[in-house]
Amino acid sequence: TDRHETPMLSLRKAYSHSALQRFHKQVSHASNEEAVLYLIEPKIDGIAISLTYEQGNLVRALTRGNGLEGDDITANIMTIPSIPKKLTDTTEDGQKTTIPDRIEIRGEIFSNFSDFEAINRQRESRGESRFTHPRSLAAGSAKLSDSNQTAQRKLSVLFFGYGDFLPSSIVPKTQREFYQLAHSWGLPVLQTVRTAKGIDRLSTAINDEKSNLSEHPYPTDGLVVKVDLIALQAKLGYTNQAPRWALAYKFAPKQAETRLLSINIQVGRTGLLTPLAEFAPVSISGSKI
Ligand code: IVH
Repeated sequence: TDRHETPMLSLRKAYSHSALQRFHKQVSHASNEEAVLYLIEPKIDGIAISLTYEQGNLVRALTRGNGLEGDDITANIMTIPSIPKKLTDTTEDGQKTTIPDRIEIRGEIFSNFSDFEAINRQRESRGESRFTHPRSLAAGSAKLSDSNQTAQRKLSVLFFGYGDFLPSSIVPKTQREFYQLAHSWGLPVLQTVRTAKGIDRLSTAINDEKSNLSEHPYPTDGLVVKVDLIALQAKLGYTNQAPRWALAYKFAPKQAETRLLSINIQVGRTGLLTPLAEFAPVSISGSKI
């Protein structure tokens, strides 16, 4: 394992409009105004990674691990074609940008639905077992000991944040500017970013984006709301676990009713009794549970 220069935190979760309102109350209090500009992004369901670039060169890639230390997966990450080994300092229209002395770029590696299906079909044809979820494919592939095998798994990546960023004088003013800058360096960044000013528009945007989630080519498990202004992000700061300037908005898990068929009491070797319930299968979003 290797230490992250800046810890990789997680996100606070919200499931309801009232949790969103509480979040906005905290943010607008810190900003002294109601009209806070938020970004609304898909929450990609993959594996978090952190890439370190020094003088523009990719020097290592770590998994999140426990947030403080992650596993070194540099050799495997190097096989993902869309990850630049070197950042470019000239944009498509010929503008020069400054490459940081050192930056930790954070994002998610994942398997697109189409690649996930193709790889599963190939595995079935070889008599191998299917991956149950694109996330398990991404997780299993990122940590393989043979990077030639990782290369076969067609992993994708999108970036949406940073840890260390040096010198701090070149940190952009807004999250959106960060995305533009990272894009100009040649990094694949999240494209579908919606903005909303204030709680009412935020709430509407979340509802709109909720119905767009199934349109994405990659698996998602909710939305992420972020404060756009970096100065306000800094003012809000972090708890031990998560930034106060961002929120994961999850949708209540789907539920279904079914019949209880039987309860069997299993008797263990030591006489311990364990009840085991059997339910009739039920279909939720096309899967038999
Ligand atoms: S921002 C300080 N944006 O979700 C954490 N995270 O539950 C800032 N994730 O570890 C993360 N999509 O790997 C952010 N659009 C997105 C995301 C995203 C997926 C993952 C990320 C993080 C986890 C937190």
